[in-house]
Amino acid sequence: FDGASITRDDVVREGDPTNNVPDTIFSKLGMQLHRRDNHPIGILRNAIYEYFDATYPGKFVKFDDLSPIVSVKENFDDVLVPADHVSRSYNDTYYVDAQTVLRCHTSAHQTELLKRGHCYFLVTGDVYRRDSIDSTHYPVFHQMEGVRVFSPDEWVNSGLDGTSYAAMDLKQSLEGLAKSLFGDVDMRWIDTYFPFTNPSFELEIYFQEKWMEVLGCGVTEQEILRRNGRSGSVAWAFGLGLERLAMVLFEIPDIRLFWSNDQRFTSQFSERKLGAKFQPFSKYPPCYKDMSFWISDSFTENNLCEVVREIAGDLVEEVRLIDNFTNKGMTSHCYRIAYRSMERSLTDEEINQLQGHVREVVQNKLRVTLR
Ligand code: PHE
Repeated sequence: FDGASITRDDVVREGDPTNNVPDTIFSKLGMQLHRRDNHPIGILRNAIYEYFDATYPGKFVKFDDLSPIVSVKENFDDVLVPADHVSRSYNDTYYVDAQTVLRCHTSAHQTELLKRGHCYFLVTGDVYRRDSIDSTHYPVFHQMEGVRVFSPDEWVNSGLDGTSYAAMDLKQSLEGLAKSLFGDVDMRWIDTYFPFTNPSFELEIYFQEKWMEVLGCGVTEQEILRRNGRSGSVAWAFGLGLERLAMVLFEIPDIRLFWSNDQRFTSQFSERKLGAKFQPFSKYPPCYKDMSFWISDSFTENNLCEVVREIAGDLVEEVRLIDNFTNKGMTSHCYRIAYRSMERSLTDEEINQLQGHVREVVQNKLRVTLR
């Protein structure tokens, strides 16, 4: 797969109700930040590779060029995501057509690689999710998936059953990874649910005065192993968010910076080393604009954020619901939009023009009534 070979026609179908890929998303396909050795995402990928190569010499096979355009079957069905799971909705996922999506996680490649017979693999790639807007959320980000399959002889003498053995090995491996990347950092395990693992866990790291989720993982559901010719074995899997980890590691305050071509950003990572801390170039002032409207039944925050992003691009820093009330069966929302460039000061005129355009398109596309 060569990212540059994806054309607009491959993913954007204007007027087709089974397609919801906007141009801003098309423009990100094929950027492949994770394959750039002097970009924070690529540097982090390489550091994680090094950890796994040192811990399991010669074992992990690495994939970083699998196409982000995958079938609904690969992205959801094959990893046991239930038919009615929210992640399948058009509100959460980018659909190319009714059977094809932009992968929303690198888990979309698990079954294909298990089927091919791999027992240790890492898959790195760009993943796509419709979401709200703030400093840690962006509709494209990067994940690394890791899978390890054990055969019975690996755990039979441990005194543990296969599942407990895999869970123990998984937590040890990922704690080791976190220590190798961060040294001392506060972290905690949270029990959670994923359709494809049981038990399932999340690892959180303390950053910017908050616990931030950086990875999901667990012991692979037996059904997945069975369907892919691995009955009798156990496996673990993890999926980690590279931007989240890189933000902590390099002290990068805003997720939009990963997409910046500003030399003041890119030049800071030319050394290709982990140790660098990002030196923020001066922070430009934000500009806040509030917008109130009566919503319709079909209104969603993700749709609003996409409209704002389509118009303002990376000038939008946050979209936040600041007021919400219902009167005589009508619901009003007030959203505060923060505009801020990472690279320069914005003029009042420019912001007013953007906001005017946002109001117009929000009214027309989202069927709300501005107040
Ligand atoms: N695919 C999950 C996500 O994107 C992460 C995950 C991967 C969880 C593998 C468990 C096992 O959130």
